[in-house]
Amino acid sequence: MNLPDADATRRAGAILGGLVQGGDSIALVGDLGAGKTTLVTGLVAAIGAGDAASPTFSLVNEYVGGRLIVWHVDLYRIDRERELVELGLEEMLGDRRGVCVVEWADKFAVMPRDHLRIELAHDGDTRSITLTGTGPRGQALASAASAELLQPAR
Ligand SMILES: Nc1ncnc2c1ncn2[C@@H]1O[C@H](COP(=O)(O)OP(=O)(O)OP(=O)(O)O)[C@@H](O)[C@H]1O
Ligand SMILES: [Mg+2]
Repeated sequence: MNLPDADATRRAGAILGGLVQGGDSIALVGDLGAGKTTLVTGLVAAIGAGDAASPTFSLVNEYVGGRLIVWHVDLYRIDRERELVELGLEEMLGDRRGVCVVEWADKFAVMPRDHLRIELAHDGDTRSITLTGTGPRGQALASAASAELLQPAR
């Protein structure tokens, strides 16, 4: 599916923000500048937890005050698997008080067996998005979100 501009990427995040439940986890995969953080901004806003900032320096940003906690994790600057333990990623994944969104999730085998995988890719000046579920819950999210994405924006 095509996302013609950054607003469309934020809208995709907002759609997911309306669908996620506590304990869900989302892998965000795509090149530098593919729109991963932009999507998280829309998700966090829809959950009502405020604006997402880039977690480039903090590695994990925690957004509270909304319907669910959002843990926004960025593995880009993580070099060793051991650092993931210090990050507390294991505790965040599957914590039913919130959802865990992991940028550069392909770098390490960190995701739970059942999650939603979102691939973003450059497509000229625009982006493409592909949603895949790796288990029943991920598949339910992927099909519900895809159906909403196909509706015209309003
Ligand atoms: N669908 C889109 N079409 C065009 N530009 C977009 C789209 N979505 C996001 N952008 C723009 O792409 C740029 C990079 O976005 P963003 O920072 O979200 O990428 P990222 O994948 O998080 O990058 P990084 O790998 O550096 O963390 C921003 O300027 C953003 O506004
Ligand atoms: Mg980013």
